[in-house]
Amino acid sequence: MAIFPKEVIQKRQKNVAEALSDVLKNDECLLVLSGLPIGKPGGLDQTYDFLPHPTYYWLTGFRSARGVAFFSKSTGWIDFVKFATREDKFWEGADEELHGRDISELESFLSGQKFSQIYKIGQLAYNDSALTSEAGKATLEKIHLKVNALRRVKDAHEVQMILNIADIANKGYKKLQSFIRPGVTEKEIQIEFESEIQRHGAHGMPYGTIVGSGSNAAILHAIPTMKKVEQSDLVLIDAGADVYDYCVDITRVYPASGQFSTMQKEIYDLVKQAQTKAIEKCHIGTQWHDVHRTSARVIAEGLKALNIMKGDTEAILDTGAIAVFYPHGVGHLVGLRVRDVGCPENLNPKKYCGANLRVDLELKENFLITVEPGCYFIKGLIDDAENRTKFKDFINWQEVEKWKGLGGVRIEDDMLITQGPARNLTAVVDKI
Ligand code: GLY
Ligand code: MN
Repeated sequence: MAIFPKEVIQKRQKNVAEALSDVLKNDECLLVLSGLPIGKPGGLDQTYDFLPHPTYYWLTGFRSARGVAFFSKSTGWIDFVKFATREDKFWEGADEELHGRDISELESFLSGQKFSQIYKIGQLAYNDSALTSEAGKATLEKIHLKVNALRRVKDAHEVQMILNIADIANKGYKKLQSFIRPGVTEKEIQIEFESEIQRHGAHGMPYGTIVGSGSNAAILHAIPTMKKVEQSDLVLIDAGADVYDYCVDITRVYPASGQFSTMQKEIYDLVKQAQTKAIEKCHIGTQWHDVHRTSARVIAEGLKALNIMKGDTEAILDTGAIAVFYPHGVGHLVGLRVRDVGCPENLNPKKYCGANLRVDLELKENFLITVEPGCYFIKGLIDDAENRTKFKDFINWQEVEKWKGLGGVRIEDDMLITQGPARNLTAVVDKI
């Protein structure tokens, strides 16, 4: 069965055609490429699992390799696809219902039309050029911007898919709430989560599942280890679910004993408050870096109240002192894969409050973006000699020593920007 109804695909193609109406000339065309399977080094006929380029997949609904969506203003959209061979069918069970012209016809089709410029986007092969001649560089840039801007806006069908995936992820988190206890390993927690969501329909994981217990909770991308969870540990789980490349990205933190210690509760409540305040700020027209600053301000104020930080709050943010405890951006676009399109505006993001933001855009209706503030006690940042000197006016280093073993807390949900308050598409996963 098709992943997207025909009308959804037609609407996307119509939107792209309209967006390109003043970008493409009448004698130019656009090719959107699915991509080629990537061979494993030294692997003979072995390839990595194929991932269609998300723009091609979004635009056509097809997931097979070697497909090309053609567009010109006079012809409109034409699909050129690589139909499965007998071998593909009996080796791999290839059964995608493709329609359109055979990819072998593309070359003669193009050469018959004498286009002055052929633009290529999507997954180019290593010997493919994105342009026929250098002259079209500025236009190619505009094509990327226009298509990415459309892709960022989630349609109702995508929202429903993501809500369904959130329900699946919730099965995993529910399972963990009874599974996590002193003595289980981080690896066992990962296995329990991943098997439970796959039992409920997930195709796999959108990113490597992060499980960090105790001081490992301060490792931002912690790879689950054989470390056993201890009675006094916090356990941070950052795990999503994937269905046909759509996904959720969720983080929750649980005390292994079932009860937070007083210190753990202070940090947990602080991060929760930072998330609430950041979400309140998620409106159409807000700059994403202002959402980040809002969350960083809450963390700074909270750490001042705990005597961990000191001095003027705005200076704590401006100097980047806050990034010793909150070193990452407040979130990223999500939905079609775990990093949805922020590029190319964001190839060289500026630092805000000492952190590299993964998005630097104004929020628009139906953007889907994670809100995931955190507060961590990261040995590498706390023991760093440069930080110790640079931030001596803002951090009570002696006080920090008392908190070092806590690890860290991050809380993450996926928020849809609406005309009213942002809508939490991952709200189904309970927070403590
Ligand atoms: N969930 C992992 C990340 O956003 O980097
Ligand atoms: Mn994330």
